[in-house]
Amino acid sequence: ARIYVPADAAAVALGADDVAAAIGRHAAGHAVEIIRTGSRGLFWLEPMIEVATPAGRIAYGPVAPEDVAGLVAAGLLHGGDHPLRLGAPEAIPFLARQTRLTFGRCGVVDPASAADYRAHGGGVGLERALELGPEGIVEAVVQSGLRGRGGAGFPTGIKWRTVAAAQAPQKYIVCNADEGDSGTYADRMIMEGDPFVLIEGMVIAGIAVGASRGYVYLRSEYPHAAVAFGRALEAARRDGLLGTRIGGSAHDFDIELRMGAGAYVCGEETALLDSIEGKRGQVRAKPPLPAHHGLFGRPTVINNVISLASVPFILAEGPETYRDFGMGRSRGTMPIQLAGNVRFGGLFETGFGMTLGELVDEIGGGTASGRPVRAVQVGGPLGAYFPRALFDTPFDYEAFAAAGGLIGHGGVVVFDDTVDLRAQARFAMEFCAIESCGKCTPCRIGSTRGVEVIDRMGAGDGPAQETLLRDLCETMKFGSLCALGGFAPYPVLSALDHFPEDFGLKSPLAV
Ligand code: NAI
Ligand code: SF4
Repeated sequence: ARIYVPADAAAVALGADDVAAAIGRHAAGHAVEIIRTGSRGLFWLEPMIEVATPAGRIAYGPVAPEDVAGLVAAGLLHGGDHPLRLGAPEAIPFLARQTRLTFGRCGVVDPASAADYRAHGGGVGLERALELGPEGIVEAVVQSGLRGRGGAGFPTGIKWRTVAAAQAPQKYIVCNADEGDSGTYADRMIMEGDPFVLIEGMVIAGIAVGASRGYVYLRSEYPHAAVAFGRALEAARRDGLLGTRIGGSAHDFDIELRMGAGAYVCGEETALLDSIEGKRGQVRAKPPLPAHHGLFGRPTVINNVISLASVPFILAEGPETYRDFGMGRSRGTMPIQLAGNVRFGGLFETGFGMTLGELVDEIGGGTASGRPVRAVQVGGPLGAYFPRALFDTPFDYEAFAAAGGLIGHGGVVVFDDTVDLRAQARFAMEFCAIESCGKCTPCRIGSTRGVEVIDRMGAGDGPAQETLLRDLCETMKFGSLCALGGFAPYPVLSALDHFPEDFGLKSPLAV
């Protein structure tokens, strides 16, 4: 029998390695092959194991090492009945309601095997890309409507077109895997669960713009992803997905993995480039854009993991298929990451347009604590706090901006009614003070002053300090060089606007 046990960091944190070892012990004597996969992203069911049966895979979870003997006795190896039996994984409502275009293979395939990747449809996008040629690829990505999944939502195809048009002896593809947003893990899951899709996306980007070299900048907090991705790079070279004359064409491409050192600001694209160049990660003024003057001064495509990993599907299935999903100018799907105090936490890939309320109450099942949901922070530590009154906001770049927020990298962090929004606002300023690169004054000084003002509000001076805090936020928003100082006001102002009572205020100046 074939048994799939996730080696994803979240599953491992919940005991997946011990479960795999226990299966090895208890199934000794049976012909069992244990395959370590990524995670399907249903974290409340992890470690979730699957067994291949003639009728398809059958899932069990959450499995503890001490459950394994009983599972084997109950006929685990042929999908036998047991209280932990979940049935076909695709039929679990949390998965059944998703549209897995980018994450289709994650948790399914062996992330160490290029052959398994190809057996599950991998490589088709690259074949199509080679037929289309550089201009055709860029056109397809433009047509798909794909926008940067790191958070800013800039059209990926337009960025590629800019780099393709630049004249230079060397160009680069840089993948931003510095996933620093709180409550996000989509990049990590792809790198651990389906690393070849990212490699294929980068190769396609390289062909599109005329770059032969790629870098993946991975945060050091992701050691499992580093191992999984490093192993995939070697397998891709053996397979011919990377190397010279890719697919018999004239294109060469190879990728180097670089580890960060723990600075949040190195997720900002220009600081990231400095860090790869061996300098201290500090934000560069834009322009020039990295598309013109990027890594080592050369034209550079810098994209988030999910943007690049979405490309093979777009090429393989056609841009129309991708852009059919979504709403307004937000086309395709978004891997939404449900986290914090939520009952069913995990990765939920869906077309844009689902409301925040549907995501939190229906898909997420409300809080894990069972108390009422009071606030939801969307888009990382610099994202806005949404009250229940805004739960009808659809997941869409423009709708979130209109509601004073951002979808960012798709992180949704849920809080129950015990949350203190003044403390959360203080945390945003404190976070900004700690992580500030120090280059510009509004962020470097403003964040520290922000902590002090919010402390004074906590000490009972709310009404007198409100104007000062709003002024400070205004200065940071419009005077900061990058999104760290520029976006720190989002959590602060949203907390102030929607939860003034936490600041000792009765009548907010603006709601
Ligand atoms: P931005 O709006 O300045 O730029 C977006 C991207 O488009 C950049 O790559 C930029 O170089 C490129 N670009 C802009 N104009 C262009 C043009 N005419 N031609 C070619 N390329 C062009 O936004 P920025 O500062 O890069 O990112 C801010 C976002 O980062 C925020 O929205 C936030 O959500 C997100 N973020 C994500 C985090 C994560 O962990 N994924 C962490 C923190 C922030
Ligand atoms: Fe550095 Fe903050 Fe200015 Fe960004 S806003 S450049 S992190 S000081």
